[in-house]
Parts: sequence; structure tokens; C-alpha cells
Amino acid sequence: MRILTVAVIGILCCEYAGGYGGVKESHPCTVHHPRGREIVGEDECFLTDGDQHLWCFGDSYRLWSHNGSIDLRTVTICNWLHPSIDLQDIVSKFPKIRKLIIANSNLTTLSKSFSSDAKHLEKIHITGTRLQGLPRDTFKHLSGLKILDIRSNALTEIDPAALVAPRLQHILLAGNPWKCEDKTMTWILNMTHGSVARKIGDRDKLHCAHPYEGRPLVPVVEIIATLREECSRTVCECELVYVVGRLGKQTQRNLIAFVSTNCSHRGLREMPEFIPANTTTLWVDGNQITDLSPLLTNPVYGQVLDLYLDNNGIASINQLEGSVWFDNFRVLSLRGNKLTDLPTYAFENVLLKSGNAVSLYLGDNPWTCDCLFTPGFQDLLRRYTKLVKDINEIRCHSAKNFENLDKPIRDLTRTEICISESETTWLYPLDVLNVFLASMIIFILGKLVYDYWSFKRTGKLPWLVAKIP
Ligand SMILES: *[C@@H]1O[C@H](CO)[C@@H](O)[C@H](O)[C@H]1NC(C)=O
Ligand SMILES: *[C@@H]1O[C@H](CO)[C@@H](O)[C@H](O)[C@H]1NC(C)=O
Ligand SMILES: *[C@@H]1O[C@H](CO)[C@@H](O)[C@H](O)[C@H]1NC(C)=O
Ligand SMILES: *[C@@H]1O[C@H](CO)[C@@H](O)[C@H](O)[C@H]1NC(C)=O
Ligand SMILES: *[C@@H]1O[C@H](CO)[C@@H](O)[C@H](O)[C@H]1NC(C)=O
Repeated sequence: MRILTVAVIGILCCEYAGGYGGVKESHPCTVHHPRGREIVGEDECFLTDGDQHLWCFGDSYRLWSHNGSIDLRTVTICNWLHPSIDLQDIVSKFPKIRKLIIANSNLTTLSKSFSSDAKHLEKIHITGTRLQGLPRDTFKHLSGLKILDIRSNALTEIDPAALVAPRLQHILLAGNPWKCEDKTMTWILNMTHGSVARKIGDRDKLHCAHPYEGRPLVPVVEIIATLREECSRTVCECELVYVVGRLGKQTQRNLIAFVSTNCSHRGLREMPEFIPANTTTLWVDGNQITDLSPLLTNPVYGQVLDLYLDNNGIASINQLEGSVWFDNFRVLSLRGNKLTDLPTYAFENVLLKSGNAVSLYLGDNPWTCDCLFTPGFQDLLRRYTKLVKDINEIRCHSAKNFENLDKPIRDLTRTEICISESETTWLYPLDVLNVFLASMIIFILGKLVYDYWSFKRTGKLPWLVAKIP
């Protein structure tokens, strides 16, 4: 019966190990020993390996009494039932052990640090538990501790001070759902001599949980730390929104970062001179920017795909025409600027060629409605209705035909734009010129008739002709 129990527990343990990141090697709760020799209490503890290894299931170690007479080297506690465990209590009960293994438990906290020196204790394994954190100085007093294996728990962050012990050399941390954050994990980048980070034996096997699910921890923390440093040189806020492996690879140098930089409402008069490398989304709403030429000239904008320029003073985007940036953008938001027209042909060209563009915002600008610009603009809007997200807010601000004012440009008819306009636009410069030329012709003809009549009557040549030699 007992053998059966042990075997079953063994199987459960191994399945458990398949969980987060899983410790692949033989699971600490798998007992190969065919039969227990010591039967104590509910016989949940037993010895193997020539009585040097004590196995206890549940919290039975408390009941175990061998009166300190035996030379125990290893204690394994499996299936611990409670949310917390007092390691100090275990070592005071077995003061001579070299190795302590806690595995396959629902344990979430260690109730205490090690307070006294269990100087023989060299290895501690706490794996396959739901341990969420370690108190500072947990192991500080263990003068003999060399190896600490806390893989496959539920640790999301760890204070390096919790990993300090005088002789600790080797720390294993894989299989935990690490929260890849600058604040809590930057210490892992400190590889100076004697640092805790240097003692971590499986740096490359650490992975992030949410929000960079499954990405390797060290390079992600590296990216975040660089980003923080670069961001501190700006007036903006920066956030690493996404990291993806190039070609599906996730090795150190193969990650692509997507950074969102927010420089909104910073009183900027110009596009910022510097933004963090790898900025793909840039928010600069609510400033007083008028000039977009830095997009073409400043390489920091090379990777900006989504640009939000709402509520600035931009009156023209003609200069973007033909630029690399313009050919590749994904989102361009120019709401609430001073645009009266735009290079429709250039837009059409870009939208036709580039598969990138997904959103364009052009509302709340003082658009001109006239027969010159509007028909082309209207064609553009109608052709890319899905792309232009605020199409109903693109309205006429100045129009010769006052009835068109504040109407969505898309909905105007060609007649509304052009014919009715021509009725009221006789003061247009070209028309003025036409009227002027027509009246000149009439005047000259009149003069000719008058001169002819005058010559017939008086025989006098007109004054001008008389003067010509
Ligand atoms: C251990 O101590 C208990 C009493 O505390 C005693 O009954 C028992 O016989 C002792 N066992 C050994 C193996 O010395
Ligand atoms: C841990 O908790 C789960 C349910 O929350 C339970 O099924 C399982 O038996 C527990 N394991 C141990 C070792 O207490
Ligand atoms: C790196 O670790 C060493 C040794 O632990 C420490 O003295 C140093 O202050 C750390 N450096 C930084 C930048 O945190
Ligand atoms: C960030 O940008 C720099 C410079 O453009 C580039 O060399 C680097 O590969 C980028 N890093 C990531 C993680 O995308
Ligand atoms: C950008 O920052 C401003 C103020 O600092 C904030 O109001 C706004 O919500 C932020 N925008 C984004 C997209 O995070």
C-alpha cells in the first residue's frame, strides 16, 4: 500500500513539473526507493539512501522523531499543505542536514528567514511551489549555503538582497513567471565582480510573464533600462509596449522593440530633437509644432510608424511629399491643426503603394472648399473611407459658397463645390482679369470707331497717329 502511495505521488509530482517552465530533470518528489523502512506516525516520513535521506509528505516532518541519533544529510518535503512554511523550524529539527528540498507544494510564502546558522546546510531547493516572494536576508545567516535552486515557483520579482549568503555561488531561477520591469529586475544586469547577478546559473533561461509573455528576461530588462536612460534625456514619457523576436528567434540580440513615447502637452514649439531609439509610436499632441521637416532630416524618427500630431499649428504637410517617412507611416493623426489643403496626389500615391497605412485622421482642420482642391480631396476621402477614421469631421471651413460651410467634405456634390461657386466668385482674380480684358477690347473698339468717325468729319488724324513719325 505504501509503495503504491509513493509511486502515485511520484507520478503526480512529475505531472506537476510539467507546469510553468517545468524542471525537466527527475522530479524531487519521485521516490525510487522500493520501500520505506521507518514507519513513524501516519508513516508519511521515511528514509532512503542508507538512512541519509528523509522524505516527508504533507506536514509530517513535525511528527518525525529519530531522537537526533541518525546521520541525516538530506530532507525532502513534498506536498506541503499550508500556504507558508517555517524553514528555520525544519533546520532546527534537523540541524545537521546538508540539503533541504521543498517541492510540489501549494506553499506561497516563507514565514521566516533563517535566523540561526545551520552551518552544514549547503543546498536548498524550493521548486514546484507557488512561492511568490522571498523576504530580504532570507539566507543571510546560512554560512554554508552554496547552491540555491528556486526554479518553477510563482516568483514574479525578487529583491537581490534575498539572494545573499556568505558563500552562495550558484543560484537557479528559471521557470518563474518573472515580471520584466526596470525597477525590480535591473539588478540582474549588474555583472560586476561579486554581484548577485553573476551567480545566477541560468540567466538565459529566465523568461518574462505578462506583459512580455515568454520573452527572455535579460534582454528585455536591458531594453527597458536603456529606454529609461534615453527617456530621461527627454521631456517625454516612454513605454516599451511590445517586444518581438526577429524571425521568431528570441535570443539576446534578436529582439525588436516597440516603444511608445508620449510628448503630449509639453509646450513644444518644435518636434523633439531626441526621442528614444526604437520609438515606433510618438504622441506630440497639444503642442505648438508647425514644422514637420525633422521627420525627414532627423534620424531619430526613422522608426516612428504611428505619429499623433493633434492640436498643433501645422498649416502644411507638403514637405512630407516623397519622403521615406511618408512612404512608410502607419498612423498619421493631424486633427485640430491649421491645414487648409494637402497634397492629394502625393497621398494617393503613398496609400496606393504602401501597405502600411492603417489610419489617417484629418478632422477639425480649416479645410478650404473650392473647385481647385476639393474635388481631388473628395476623391481621396471616398477612395480611402476605411482609412480616414474621422471622415465626417473633415468639413469645409472656408468656402465661396457659404452653404457649404461646416459640411462634411465627403458628402458635398460636385455641383455644390463648383457650379454654385462660380456664380458667386466673379471677383476671383482670373475673373477680374477677364472682365478687365473684355472692357479693354470694348474700349479699344470704341476708340477705333470714334477715331474713324472723327477722321471722316474733321480730316484730323488721331493724336497718337499724328505723333508717330
Ligand atoms: C526516541 O524518543 C522517544 C521518546 O521521546 C522514545 O520513546 C523512543 O524509543 C526513542 N527512539 C529511539 C530510536 O531512540
Ligand atoms: C494544491 O491546491 C490544489 C487546489 O487548489 C489541490 O488540488 C492540491 O491537492 C493541492 N496540493 C497540495 C500538495 O496541497
Ligand atoms: C553592482 O554590484 C556590486 C556588487 O554587489 C555593487 O557593489 C554595485 O554597487 C552594483 N552596481 C550597481 C550599478 O548597482
Ligand atoms: C533599437 O534601435 C537601435 C538603433 O536604431 C537598433 O540598433 C536596435 O537594434 C534597436 N533595438 C531593438 C531591440 O529593436
Ligand atoms: C500622454 O501624456 C499626457 C499628459 O502627460 C496624458 O494626458 C495622455 O493621456 C498621455 N497619452 C497617452 C497616449 O498615453
